Amino acid sequence: MRILVIGSGGREHALVWKLSQSPEVTKLYCAPGNGGISELAELLDVGTENVDELADMAESKDVDLTIVGPESSLAKGVVDVFEKRGLRIFGPNKAAAKLESSKAFSKNLMKKYQIPTGQFAVFDDPQAARAYVRQLGAPIVVKADGLCGGKGTIVAHTLSEALGAVDLLMEDRIFKQAGERIVVEERLVGEETSIIVITDGVYALPMLPAQDHKRLHDGDKGPNTGGMGAYAPTPLVDPALASQVMQQIIMPTIRAMTSEGFSFKGVLYAGLMLTSDGPKVLEYNVRFGDPELQAILPLLKSDLVPILDDAVEGRLSGVQCEWEPGSCACVVVASGGYPGDFQIGKEIRGLDALKNRRDLLIFHAGTKKDKGRTLSWGGRVLNVVGRGPDLEGALKQAYEAIGTIHFDGMSYRKDIGHRVLKKPVVTS
Ligand code: AMP
Ligand code: GLY
Repeated sequence: MRILVIGSGGREHALVWKLSQSPEVTKLYCAPGNGGISELAELLDVGTENVDELADMAESKDVDLTIVGPESSLAKGVVDVFEKRGLRIFGPNKAAAKLESSKAFSKNLMKKYQIPTGQFAVFDDPQAARAYVRQLGAPIVVKADGLCGGKGTIVAHTLSEALGAVDLLMEDRIFKQAGERIVVEERLVGEETSIIVITDGVYALPMLPAQDHKRLHDGDKGPNTGGMGAYAPTPLVDPALASQVMQQIIMPTIRAMTSEGFSFKGVLYAGLMLTSDGPKVLEYNVRFGDPELQAILPLLKSDLVPILDDAVEGRLSGVQCEWEPGSCACVVVASGGYPGDFQIGKEIRGLDALKNRRDLLIFHAGTKKDKGRTLSWGGRVLNVVGRGPDLEGALKQAYEAIGTIHFDGMSYRKDIGHRVLKKPVVTS
């Protein structure tokens, strides 16, 4: 089978790495890929949002199955274009991708189908939004309706911060049309977890539950990022809770989408807050989590190719995943300054010595190969993934390896897993 993966991050490197182990794969392409992916797949120089050009490529390269990494490609309608041209692709179409690309749509769907989530209201008018914010008071959460690369949510601790957030989104238009409409939401308290399933629109195959670390700094401080580290499985979700989440959240969401006339195929990712009142949805994503997938896939024993193929063909009934025992932890190494301004083009040293090591994987995110060197080429640069019999063991592998990697300005969190660990793994 000839497979094309769309994307250029650590998530896509993990996907390509896993697919490359399948006996069913004869050729792997990635568009546009990165420095690490270039060692496993042929890179195609097409951007993730150039959906027509991506379809041209898939056709000319005789690709049997395309797998979409980022939400921006899905929101652009890559699945619609491929399907119209008779090309097989794993992911939801543009209409179904609204579950992620419009928070107002997803919140209204949850309300209509009684899927547990925080109280909320949707606003197109800043005046009305401000009145509602004043009425509810802080703490309160203000969210842009549209896609903002994970930066469109402001958890406001004071009234003035909340009113400022309404201004930034609706008056200053810092996210352009994405913030024309906003959702104002009750602040939920608890532990966060990422529940990711692969679905054919009827059945859902759960991945291991994971926990991401969205804030930039240790202790969950600083600005929100795309994710600074993740581990799986998280002990926060025991089998009873996993089954509750499937029955009360995941399956009702898939059925709700069907009832509303959307056919939902691909990945459904529910970002949950585990509140004292049970699990509640913070947001949906319609693609694999990054960096969650980098911590999940190394534990997947089953071949991923038939699973994705069955999802596309509507054959997931009875399919099960086999998992390796133990834990995986992914620590993100970022460029100094990320998620704000940062410099690229810094030479990364120490990677060769970490190749072919047991219990260690390096997935590249923003990197580029240049005359045999590996350069930093983005905000999130590397994902260092350790594996161990437990979370402590996995983190020890990852942090020991990071200690031997260097590039100018590199930064990373030293406390991945801290919400469930008794003692920190890195003490300095
Ligand atoms: P979102 O953009 O909805 O994924 O939110 C990004 C992050 O903001 C989440 O991972 C949470 O940490 C936080 N967040 C979002 N909504 C809420 C909420 N209602 N209550 C508390 N924290 C929230
Ligand atoms: N790790 C969060 C996300 O993929 O949206």
